[in-house]
Amino acid sequence: MRLDRFLSNLPQFNRKQVRLLLVERRVRVDGVAVGDPHVEVREFSQVLLDDQVLQVGRPARYFMLHKPMGCVSATVDPQHPTVLDLLDEPDKHDLHLAGRLDYNTSGLMVITNDGQWSRRLTQPQTKLGKVYYVETEQEINEQYIETFARGIYFSFEDLTTQPATLQLLGARSARLTIVEGRYHQVKRMFGHFQNKVLRLHREQMGPLTLDPELSPGQYRPLTAEEIQQI
Ligand code: URA
Repeated sequence: MRLDRFLSNLPQFNRKQVRLLLVERRVRVDGVAVGDPHVEVREFSQVLLDDQVLQVGRPARYFMLHKPMGCVSATVDPQHPTVLDLLDEPDKHDLHLAGRLDYNTSGLMVITNDGQWSRRLTQPQTKLGKVYYVETEQEINEQYIETFARGIYFSFEDLTTQPATLQLLGARSARLTIVEGRYHQVKRMFGHFQNKVLRLHREQMGPLTLDPELSPGQYRPLTAEEIQQI
């Protein structure tokens, strides 16, 4: 929300007082004195008037996790272990997954309590590539490259997938970059050629690369630099 609205919503200030506070630069958002009424105040922002705390600001939390196979990317599941079970963190109910992986897909999962940030990472409009290592039952040939680049029609959703990049690695292995995350997207793209995906592993989401130091099931907080890249 805009800073001027945030301040006017508080019972102690009317609009005129808010204008004055901003002109006098008495309000600080995350330690910076602000005069611009348009500055965004988020649930994570600390807001001070002189030395008085108007909003403490919830800590924003960001993690990358190496999802193992055989684990559900959901916050709760009655039968199987979930990705959240792997996290030893307080207030886990506050966290959500930025994009999902299938039960038997391994690799990079991002977990946060910052919805605005995670939308930037996952929304197709931001065109951040999600990179998957894929192994298949049948051979993968050059024709896949062109077909994936053109897009594949998914009748269930009545849409054509956005251009995807395929790099052949071996006779039955490849690296695929897609910018969306439709339901079972990678498996369905290979399914177009009746080629079953046997192994699927997410290596990258936009600028975030799965840390090679993380074994399956391990996680770590994102660095300030990684957070800012999104
Ligand atoms: N596409 C799939 O088919 N499965 C995943 O887990 C991720 C992308």
